[in-house]
Amino acid sequence: MGQQVFSLLERKKLLSLLSIITFALILAFHCYFKLPCGSNVLQHSLESVHKTMMVNNSYVNVIDNHSSITMMPKETEGSLVKVPEMTSISEMDKLLLQNHSSYQSMRPRWFSAVDQELLQARSEIENAPVVTDVGNLYTPLFRNISMFKRSYELMEKILKVYVYREGAKPIMHSPNLLGIYASEGWFMKLMEANKVFVTKDPKNAHLFYLPFSSQMLEETLYIQNSPSYSNLMQYLNNYVDTIAAKHPFWNRTGGADHFLVACHDWAPSETNERMTKCIRSLCNADLKESFVLGKDTSLPETYVRNAQIPTRGLGGKSVSKRKTLAFFAGGMHGYVRPILLQHWGNKDPDMKIFGELPKSKGNKNYIQYMKGSKYCICPKGYEVNSPRVVEAIMYECVPVIISDNFVPPFFEVLNWKSFAVFVSEKDIPNLKSILLSIPVKKYLQMRMRVKKVQQHFLWHRSPVKYDIYHMVLHSIWYNRVFTARTA
Ligand SMILES: *[C@@H]1O[C@H](CO)[C@@H](O)[C@H](O)[C@H]1NC(C)=O
Ligand SMILES: *[C@@H]1O[C@H](CO)[C@@H](O)[C@H](O)[C@H]1NC(C)=O
Ligand SMILES: *[C@@H]1O[C@H](CO)[C@@H](O)[C@H](O)[C@H]1NC(C)=O
Ligand SMILES: *[C@@H]1O[C@H](CO)[C@@H](O)[C@H](O)[C@H]1NC(C)=O
Ligand SMILES: *[C@@H]1O[C@H](CO)[C@@H](O)[C@H](O)[C@H]1NC(C)=O
Repeated sequence: MGQQVFSLLERKKLLSLLSIITFALILAFHCYFKLPCGSNVLQHSLESVHKTMMVNNSYVNVIDNHSSITMMPKETEGSLVKVPEMTSISEMDKLLLQNHSSYQSMRPRWFSAVDQELLQARSEIENAPVVTDVGNLYTPLFRNISMFKRSYELMEKILKVYVYREGAKPIMHSPNLLGIYASEGWFMKLMEANKVFVTKDPKNAHLFYLPFSSQMLEETLYIQNSPSYSNLMQYLNNYVDTIAAKHPFWNRTGGADHFLVACHDWAPSETNERMTKCIRSLCNADLKESFVLGKDTSLPETYVRNAQIPTRGLGGKSVSKRKTLAFFAGGMHGYVRPILLQHWGNKDPDMKIFGELPKSKGNKNYIQYMKGSKYCICPKGYEVNSPRVVEAIMYECVPVIISDNFVPPFFEVLNWKSFAVFVSEKDIPNLKSILLSIPVKKYLQMRMRVKKVQQHFLWHRSPVKYDIYHMVLHSIWYNRVFTARTA
């Protein structure tokens, strides 16, 4: 399943790449012959925009197909290839705090007792009694263990979620439990079956779940080689219209107490029309792609290879048996990986940096490398996220994230710097010296913490306390608490 999706995506990406090259050539031609070029052309083109589509999975505007210029990247402002500015993880920390104190969702149109409960919960979390040792939790992994503990307790005690029954299969209500997008499927399956949080009475609900699958949306409605997926967005817009017409709840808050959980690359853009006010739990958690820190949450991308035993193969070699300093293998998606390979592919015996590994059953070679390396490199692909982050955690390898604007999962509560390394894209040439500069003691500490954080990234067929299902729900709850208002 995962493989098929990949090859379909690959073809689409190739098509997009060809189109952008065409546009670049036309633009260069214009500039060379002193025809209107650069921002003039872009300005002109913007006026005739009528559609949107993806290039390298970022949104671009498509001009009507009679025109000689067929598409253009967005956010161009003079330069054709968007070079993303970097938001460091420390800056994200600040933005999160800032947004949690300043972001406010729409004022509800009428009173509901749940709004008071959320405000009360916020106050209790902000004034949480200070704790240092919490049974099953490892304190250094958290930004603030006292606040997390209180918030989690309150979630267990009061949170009620209403799950909409509207919507036809397979896009709605049909969870897919395998492959690289499996997180959205597992969450859907476990949420729809849940007895603790789900309420049948929407008046008691603090949150409303829109149970669609961004993967099924693509597989069902995307017309192969089509330059546009506006029909996918239309489908979601219609869904929202149905919900808003039939029930009073959407209009009460403009969707601010509604949430979705979506792992496909396109999900941020697909949900950026009618669903912008919702809390969006997204694998593609890209600060440059409409992700709002403090409202949206980063969904871990988990590559599930066995739906019966999603945790199969967990664990890795002891520290002394991890002979490889750093490992990466994968396709040359996006602009970062070719740079990584150019600097480190086949250059240094400590740095096992490869393109795609030869196929092996259950991806055995790849997993063995992860289990036997000190650091696992997680560079962005077409998008900021990668299943490698959770794989590294599963196989007890310290993740090294090279993806400048990626908001890591459960960012609201986890202190990522305590168990992962962040290297900025421009520092790829210094990768080895950066890793070697980490003292052994610090490495051992991070590795131990990777093992401790594992429990928060594992799917179970029957959810257990603090597992990934509860952590996904908790981040949504936490952001709802910090953005709620009263009428
Ligand atoms: C323009 O593109 C759309 C699909 O995006 C297609 O249906 C339509 O036939 C095209 N029109 C022309 C004139 O090529
Ligand atoms: C954690 O949050 C609580 C409640 O706001 C606060 O009293 C405490 O000082 C915080 N602890 C740390 C380490 O920041
Ligand atoms: C919610 O608002 C929309 C747009 O204003 C309206 O069409 C719809 O009927 C409203 N829903 C309800 C249940 O009143
Ligand atoms: C913070 O919230 C505001 C909305 O109040 C949003 O526009 C902004 O993008 C958010 N910042 C980040 C970094 O997400
Ligand atoms: C798209 O990706 C290709 C290779 O993956 C890269 O060469 C190109 O610069 C990218 N284009 C944009 C607009 O990011």
